[in-house]
Amino acid sequence: MKRSEINQILRDAEAFMREQQFYLPPFAFWRPAQWQNKGHDCDEIRDMMLGWDITDFGSGRFYQVGLLLFTLRNGRLPLQPGGKTYAEKIMVVREEQVTPMHFHFQKMEDIINRGGGNLLIEVYNATVDGQLADTPVLVTRDGCRDEVAAGTILRLEPGQSITLPVRQYHRFWGELGRGTVLVGEVSKVNDDNADNRFYEPAGRFPEITEDEAPLHLLCNEYPQARS
Ligand SMILES: [Fe+2]
Repeated sequence: MKRSEINQILRDAEAFMREQQFYLPPFAFWRPAQWQNKGHDCDEIRDMMLGWDITDFGSGRFYQVGLLLFTLRNGRLPLQPGGKTYAEKIMVVREEQVTPMHFHFQKMEDIINRGGGNLLIEVYNATVDGQLADTPVLVTRDGCRDEVAAGTILRLEPGQSITLPVRQYHRFWGELGRGTVLVGEVSKVNDDNADNRFYEPAGRFPEITEDEAPLHLLCNEYPQARS
């Protein structure tokens, strides 16, 4: 992806969150030059890779297959005594912008429609060898259990959420004609290196072509603190 595209995605996300009255922490707005002066006191942001995260899942078509995320908090595995056991993200999901089918080995997560349009989410159980099972799927939405057929597409309207247990395949996108969706995620610790199983192989951090200066650094771009 080009840096100019990343910058535009960031500007759009900031504007959308403002419109939805979702307020980000201070480090969301730090400029690359400010990062040069941040010491070890801010190591949690670096170590947990908090902050802006943009992926096109290796598709090269961000607006069709891609996701903007901001990680607000996270812990690390293996858990240390006193370490954070939880994570929270906020995401911007556009109409028909797909996050491909995947499940998590360890991370149980709640996906929450925080506002804007409707979120559509397709669910399957996984077979032992990681295929899509045709068995009924037990889903929990806002404290109420339900059983749905494999491959059912559920609609989450603003305020609604779904709890995704481990090994439950899910794929989601914004419903056409209803607008961009602000999506929250509250979960156990998030480990993108080992915990995600995509049904079809997917990339994670995009290669960036530097055609202009970065507006904000992404979570995998922070400079180390100068000692
Ligand atoms: Fe997920």
